[in-house]
Amino acid sequence: MPNKDITFEYCDKLVDQFERVIKNPIKTKSSVYYTGVDLGTACVVLAVLDENYNPVAGAYRYADVVKDGMIVDYLGAIKLVRELKGEIEEKLGTTLIYAAGAIPPGTDHLDSGAIKNVIQAAGFEITNLLDEPTAANEVLKLKNGAVVDIGGGTTGTSVIENGKVIYVTDEPTGGTHFSLVISGAYKLPFKEADIYKRDIKNHKELLPVLKPVIEKIGYIINNHVGDFNVKDISLVGGTACLTGIEDILRKYTKLNVYKPKNPMFVTPLGIALSCTKEIQE
Ligand SMILES: Nc1ncnc2c1ncn2[C@@H]1O[C@H](COP(=O)(O)OP(=O)(O)OP(=O)(O)O)[C@@H](O)[C@H]1O
Ligand SMILES: [Mg+2]
Repeated sequence: MPNKDITFEYCDKLVDQFERVIKNPIKTKSSVYYTGVDLGTACVVLAVLDENYNPVAGAYRYADVVKDGMIVDYLGAIKLVRELKGEIEEKLGTTLIYAAGAIPPGTDHLDSGAIKNVIQAAGFEITNLLDEPTAANEVLKLKNGAVVDIGGGTTGTSVIENGKVIYVTDEPTGGTHFSLVISGAYKLPFKEADIYKRDIKNHKELLPVLKPVIEKIGYIINNHVGDFNVKDISLVGGTACLTGIEDILRKYTKLNVYKPKNPMFVTPLGIALSCTKEIQE
């Protein structure tokens, strides 16, 4: 039985507003701005909220500064975050001071210092560093179930109980692998295959080609939620934008699968919502 409580009402409204301000930033007189910095394998996103935590600006760029949640091009990452920050500052006519960042599940002991350093070196005061699924659930507002973040390099599965993340894991297989499959099948260079894949006009045609790799993701999900009483999974991450991915996963996992209208910006917005003026410990 599908869960009637999962409507993504808040999420869809927030993401919709964010998509609009990426194109047309809102110049308001806000006493403070909160920035969320999402350093991903495929994409780096900055989301900016005003004093009432409403989206006012955003910017993102595809980049290769992170691999599977680890920063591999440290200076490139700093330069990119600084550039995106500068672009938004110019549009808003203000200086962005406070930022929050997030760490992919399971890498905190390895890399949280690097993520923090990148955000600081880009000119921000970092006020919070949280894990990605906790950030995503700030926006999804799930009580129970699992959040599955299908990003560029990895699929992160996080189990939520009473609104809190109780189990996290991250495994290779994500949008990069989808693009590799397309690159092979269509004899296209990787970058072109990735662009072709992101165009929703091509999704129907691509779905059968990508079915095996989507089922691999289903296998990963089942492996991790098996020990928990999970019935509902909610998809986030750019790869979840693929039209129809939810149907294949629903069939394969035999779980209720939900996805918000645009799953790509859920985590960055959740990071921004977790930003404050005071440093959190
Ligand atoms: N409209 C779309 N259709 C299909 N795939 C898409 C679409 N938009 C983005 N993607 C894919 O989503 C991936 C990027 O998603 P996301 O920004 O969530 O990843 P990331 O955070 O950079 O990676 P990770 O979480 O693995 O570090 C890329 O592989 C990209 O090609
Ligand atoms: Mg990500």
